[in-house]
Amino acid sequence: MAKPKVIVTRRWHADVEQLLVDRYDTQLNDDDHPMSTAELQDALRNADAVLPTVSDKVNAEVLGIDDIRAGILGSNGVGFNHIDLEAAKAAGLTVTNTPEVLTDCTADLAITLLLMVARRTGEGERHLRAGEWTGWRPTHMMGTSVTGKTLGLIGMGRIARAVAARAAHGFDMKIIYHDPFPPSVDDLAGLNAIACESPQAVFEQADFVSLHCPGGKETYHLIGTEAFRAMKPGAFLINSARGDVVDEAALVEALDTGEIAGAGLDVFENEPEVTPALLKMENVVLLPHLGSATQETRKAMGMRVVENIEAFFNGETPRDKLV
Ligand code: DGY
Repeated sequence: MAKPKVIVTRRWHADVEQLLVDRYDTQLNDDDHPMSTAELQDALRNADAVLPTVSDKVNAEVLGIDDIRAGILGSNGVGFNHIDLEAAKAAGLTVTNTPEVLTDCTADLAITLLLMVARRTGEGERHLRAGEWTGWRPTHMMGTSVTGKTLGLIGMGRIARAVAARAAHGFDMKIIYHDPFPPSVDDLAGLNAIACESPQAVFEQADFVSLHCPGGKETYHLIGTEAFRAMKPGAFLINSARGDVVDEAALVEALDTGEIAGAGLDVFENEPEVTPALLKMENVVLLPHLGSATQETRKAMGMRVVENIEAFFNGETPRDKLV
């Protein structure tokens, strides 16, 4: 029997690409260019499985063609707001993602952002590299202490809980959270986390607000003018979730007027574009969507996709089936 045809939309971890090539009739994206709408449509027409990533917009337009051959979209990433699940379902596609394997890595990055923005480390490094450092002095680049402060989590899924564990046990932080779908008591064990009835209650009490909710319609601009108004003047916003959860124009204003003290961002509203004003602000840490970017995690994510499509080709329900 012919091997299933698999099209991978971007370069993946080399070990995963090798496995895909060994196992299937695999087409890789050798120059790693982002695929256009037409290329994604061609992939859907010509493959049994298309393997997109979180930066491929698999929207209703892409999925609106009537000659789709693919049976599965094996997405490489936990977030799935880049795929129109309704349109995919209507087109008869199974869609999978890669939960769990990137939890620790992404939580590490959220804590990195938190520490960086509180302790002004990006600013400090730029200062030193620019040859501006004149030596130690008591008032030089004083930041904000993290230990013992209140961390407010918006969303309390796996990644948020991993952030909470690091913050509570590593930095003795008090943890508060809001999640419309709260985790079980077992999942919260050892975190001493206090549930808040609304995001507003989190904004009002937290020294650091860290976002861990999905992107998309339901959470679009959840963090906007009102949220910033509710936050403490010395508070910091951390976003390692999805860019469109934050109204970037409102964020710039809140930072400009001192409504909040700073922000650590790994994701942006119009990635890879970044609101230009943010690039000029010293109290903002900006990273290029690195949450899951370690060798180990990217390999694990790719392997999880392979596991999902293998199950699909074997006529089984993939472990991470979304629709
Ligand atoms: C995801 O998986 O959704 C991240 O944004 C990329 O790792």
